[in-house]
Amino acid sequence: MSIIYLNGQFIPRATATLAIDDRGFIFGDGVYEVTRVVNGELFESSRHLKRLGRGLADMRLQPEESLADIEEISRRLIVENGLTEGEGTVYLQITRGAAPRTHHFPPAGTRCTVFMSAQKFVVPHDKRATGVSVVTYPDIRWSRCDIKTVNLIPAVLAKQHAVDNGVFESIFVRDGTITEGSHTNCFGVIDGELRTYPASNFILGGVTRDVTIELAHELGIPFEARPFHVQDLPRLEEFFVTGTTTDVMPVVQLDGRPVGNGRPGEITMRLYNAMAKRLYGGT
Ligand SMILES: Cc1ncc(COP(=O)(O)O)c(C=O)c1O
Repeated sequence: MSIIYLNGQFIPRATATLAIDDRGFIFGDGVYEVTRVVNGELFESSRHLKRLGRGLADMRLQPEESLADIEEISRRLIVENGLTEGEGTVYLQITRGAAPRTHHFPPAGTRCTVFMSAQKFVVPHDKRATGVSVVTYPDIRWSRCDIKTVNLIPAVLAKQHAVDNGVFESIFVRDGTITEGSHTNCFGVIDGELRTYPASNFILGGVTRDVTIELAHELGIPFEARPFHVQDLPRLEEFFVTGTTTDVMPVVQLDGRPVGNGRPGEITMRLYNAMAKRLYGGT
């Protein structure tokens, strides 16, 4: 039986209920986080909490639970749901709470809704072995993509476009520039240099993106936080996407054309192997 956390209580998932006027439901007025769990340990917890703290501040959300409380609740959910071994994820969502519908904020004292759950996760190792295909899609999002808001309609439409095309991910293009995937960041290698869209309001600053950049520095891989454009795509030697449930995923086909030699790239796999060491330990 799955145990979740909702507004101060640990309860069976099947018994959890929410008010129909919750602003998460009515307006998409909330933020979320997904954190990886490996053998009971939260991966890069402090980075996730820092991003959450920034999102809460930017959205002017003030839950009763502190960031330290959230970490403690995550740990209890991991134990309660039997995730002390193997792979899992912790999902968290904080909305502006339930109140009669008005666009402006609800009255002072309205309690934020805080929902958290922990579940098993199957790592897509099979996809990594062969590499995946992606398609491009117009970046129709707003200009605060750096906030991890639950208002995910463009991402939903983009990912469905990927599913409709039988591929792994859609890659957003804004004014001719590759920004990121629907739920991933993306990196390319051109002339031996690793590149990704710079941290800004036009992408979500992924925790996995940050770790990947750190690993590139450690491995001495030339790196520049600079974007690539649609006209650069035929020159890509390698391409990959990163995310909490994706790790480092090689892309071997983009819009139906092979990337590089059509196999997972060498730099990509060096970065994945270094990431796997961080996730699972070992030398
Ligand atoms: C738009 C977008 N970019 C990037 C990411 C990857 O972020 P992270 O590595 O923190 O999971 C996500 C994750 O959900 C996302 O939604």
